[in-house]
Amino acid sequence: MNGDARLVVENASLRYGALDVLSALSLTVGEREIVSIVGPSGCGKTTLLRCVGGLNQLNGGEIRIDGQRVEKPLPIVSMVFQHFGLFPWKNLWSNIAYGLALKHTPKDEIERRVSAAIELVGLKGFEKSYPHQLSGGMQQRAGLARALVMEPKLLLMDEPFSAIDAQTREQLQFELLRIWDQRPTAMMFVTHSIDEAVLMGDRVVVLAGRPSHVRAVRTVKLPRPRERSVVASSAFIELREQVWHDLFDQPAGNGARVQQ
Ligand SMILES: Nc1ncnc2c1ncn2[C@@H]1O[C@H](COP(=O)(O)OP(=O)(O)O)[C@@H](O)[C@H]1O
Ligand SMILES: [Mg+2]
Repeated sequence: MNGDARLVVENASLRYGALDVLSALSLTVGEREIVSIVGPSGCGKTTLLRCVGGLNQLNGGEIRIDGQRVEKPLPIVSMVFQHFGLFPWKNLWSNIAYGLALKHTPKDEIERRVSAAIELVGLKGFEKSYPHQLSGGMQQRAGLARALVMEPKLLLMDEPFSAIDAQTREQLQFELLRIWDQRPTAMMFVTHSIDEAVLMGDRVVVLAGRPSHVRAVRTVKLPRPRERSVVASSAFIELREQVWHDLFDQPAGNGARVQQ
């Protein structure tokens, strides 16, 4: 994996004042790999994503994307936030066009890419709507379109579907999988749902402990494209059990369990 890793997190540590949040945390994400990250609330998942996104600085260790050390936000990385993070004063079109406009992208190219992104996430016809006029699910579609329009090499997703009702959430999971199938890129998918982690990921990284470190890495050997029926397969159910134990069993020794 290390040969063609897009993202390398090496021995990362971070503290907020006296609070040690991350310690000796290492992981990789391949060029066309979805790595799900699970861990208890408050274990530092958002903090880790913010560090990868260049929004927070580590106190120790290193993060590299395509070999480049992350010290500030990089244009090849896009992030989708749990609470959508749309500008309330901009309509859908302008929210999605914002990043391209900042980069002084030619107008006709903005036009083309924004239309394509809106179409891709199924929001055609809502271009002039403001965020408060959209449901949670639609706002998160917009958040996704805003990230995808930048054609990132690494997509960071921070519990993107956790503020959305269960039915819409399931729909969005499969839509995201379809979008990814069309153009596979590196993705870090943070979730607190074990099922969602297994459904989306090629690997599941389990964070635990205080400060957080990698307790286990599980490879998801489920076929792609992922169909709805996969959740009833014995492979899915076994893996879900495994990750549950990784999360909740008290580990012996240093607790590191890495499946080969
Ligand atoms: N800006 C901050 N300043 C101080 N403490 C913070 C800050 N952001 C998060 N924390 C603390 O760091 C820990 C990890 O937070 P977070 O990364 O949000 O966890 P998660 O996303 O896994 O729920 C929590 O204890 C949280 O209270
Ligand atoms: Mg969080």
